[in-house]
Amino acid sequence: MKAMYPGSFDPITFGHLDVIRRAAGMVDVLHVVVMRNPSKKYFFTTEERMKLVKESVKGISNVVVSMHEGLLVDFAKKNGIKVVIRGLRAVTDFEYELQMANANRKLLPELETVFFMTDEKYSFISSTLVKEVATLGGDISQWVPEPVMRAFKDKIRRD
Ligand code: PNS
Repeated sequence: MKAMYPGSFDPITFGHLDVIRRAAGMVDVLHVVVMRNPSKKYFFTTEERMKLVKESVKGISNVVVSMHEGLLVDFAKKNGIKVVIRGLRAVTDFEYELQMANANRKLLPELETVFFMTDEKYSFISSTLVKEVATLGGDISQWVPEPVMRAFKDKIRRD
């Protein structure tokens, strides 16, 4: 079975990695798909986000990292994927996720969305929180993999 785990990953966190590890343990191939929405403003470029995901999933042999611009269902169709994985941290995530899952099912009826409950120790981590703390000089080492920490340091130094 092939599945995809789409997201912005701006940047990838330990919460994402937890879902990736658990999902990869249940499928043959897991496509982690770094999505690009031209109207959205990201902190890291698509290439940077993808590189950070790749570096962070090294060692998980059945994970393939890709980039996609456009509809999620188009990536699924093109790659013969019938399962989408998403993480749920808290009930506040649910409404948005339900809306997306229903929209995707209307667009591609055979596509099933499967939710993983984020491990409680990561349930409050979000990429938004990580960006805020990092750009204000706080320590994010307990929330993100090493390559992400380095990327923040480089980017903040450059800017
Ligand atoms: O990490 P995020 O930002 O919560 O991920 C959201 C994402 C990228 C999975 C979602 O916005 C998405 O699927 N975008 C692609 C466009 C699309 O297919 N939209 C229709 C379904 S909502």
